[in-house]
Amino acid sequence: KTQVYDIFKDSASFNEKDVTIAGWVRSNRHSNAFGFIELNDGSCFKSIQIVYVTADIENFDEISRLNVGGAIIVRGKIVLTPDAKQPFEVKAAKIDVEGHSTPDYPLQKKRHSVEFLREIAHLRPRTNLIGAAMRVRSEAAFAIHKFFNERNFVYVHTPIITASDCEGAGEMFRVTTLDVENPLRKEGKIDFGEDFFCKNAFLTVSGQLNGEAYALAYGNIYTFGPTFRAENSNTNRHAAEFWMIEPEIAFADLNDDMRLAEDMMKYVVSHVLEKCSQEISFFNEFMDKTLSERLVNLVNSSFAHVTYTEAINLLIPHNASFAFPVKWGSDIQTEHERYLSEVIFKEPVFVTDYPKEIKSFYMRMNDDNKTVAAMDMLVPGVGELIGGSQREERLDLLLSRMKELHLNEKDYWWYLDLRRYGGTRHAGFGIGFERLIMYLTGITNIRDVIPFPRTVGSAEF
Ligand code: 4AD
Ligand code: MG
Repeated sequence: KTQVYDIFKDSASFNEKDVTIAGWVRSNRHSNAFGFIELNDGSCFKSIQIVYVTADIENFDEISRLNVGGAIIVRGKIVLTPDAKQPFEVKAAKIDVEGHSTPDYPLQKKRHSVEFLREIAHLRPRTNLIGAAMRVRSEAAFAIHKFFNERNFVYVHTPIITASDCEGAGEMFRVTTLDVENPLRKEGKIDFGEDFFCKNAFLTVSGQLNGEAYALAYGNIYTFGPTFRAENSNTNRHAAEFWMIEPEIAFADLNDDMRLAEDMMKYVVSHVLEKCSQEISFFNEFMDKTLSERLVNLVNSSFAHVTYTEAINLLIPHNASFAFPVKWGSDIQTEHERYLSEVIFKEPVFVTDYPKEIKSFYMRMNDDNKTVAAMDMLVPGVGELIGGSQREERLDLLLSRMKELHLNEKDYWWYLDLRRYGGTRHAGFGIGFERLIMYLTGITNIRDVIPFPRTVGSAEF
């Protein structure tokens, strides 16, 4: 079989060549003697035109009655058509129907709204928009693995079921068995989840704590896996299930961490610009007219850096325009993140050294005893794309911070061991993979960059 992508890439070399193409019918129109099918095989968002003639194919009647959505295999010859709208077509010699479709096929040849497409998440991969987004997603995932592999990072699979709340925000989904017959449970001696794990069991919100253990053995590691957050927020940027990449580096500080994040971003963007040029032009035309320019600029510029304190001082003069005015100590919310990256810096910006109160327990205390060695990377269109920090490697400081936050030492015994036995400076970050795809495509809703979104109120699949 030949992929339509390959033909578009170098159609001249296919002139007069016999090809076999398998795909799904996007449109079908015919007269008594001949007909045209637009066929899409998913290899690119372009469809290929199939011409079929009564004299050439034996099942003209069957083919002319084919509904949109049907699956066929076409054997025929590529013919260049320099004067027509499409640069070439396939003159069919044989068309086999693999699967019929019916006239109520939900994807007809017109533009459907993204809201409608979300209701048919099982069919929307056949559209141009989702097709292009998923190809970018696939290439970006590959680029991330390639980036870390080239730098000899060890890829670590951290657990999905866990007992620890890494981010301390209480946004965990509980994991439990359905064993209602368990006598201990019947007597009320154990809670849901405890019958399986002896402790409460949850879906992980981050692989970081486990990643730290492995960085303190291999130096440089990364994770790439699904994470879960039970945040009941119905926004365009939050999903209950999303994928996160979390590198962790030992013998390294916050500056090393930010350099790694910047290098990774540039690598992934360059890779996608090279491998998905058609998709990026498509998004540039239909989603965001500044996309290509923005991505090229990212590769060629150095990211900006500001401290949290500087960022707050930059935001305060604009407080009148925010739903939530800021002062020192406030959390930086989406509107502020976007103002910083879109209006003030107009490029990715690292915000560092946040007040300890608005960040997680594991972040390293700065000398001022008020702020921690944290960094968020904010980007135009998305806001927070990366969250990271240098980790507190000093046992006494970590313990006293945990005490302040009423975290139980016993629950973190192994994490604390990492500070007792060969603890060293180390740092890491997490990048939300869906937010990265939003940034790479200009798509503004997280529901349209993940195959089957799990968000508050999403449809069942
Ligand atoms: O800032 P977060 O919560 O950081 C962590 O989880 C750290 N443990 C990471 C680390 O240092 N290893 O999450 C990291 C990133 C965010 O910047 C955001 O891009 C993404 O994960 N993210 C979400 N993406 C989609 N839906 C959600 N509900 C998300 N929550 C976080
Ligand atoms: Mg964060």
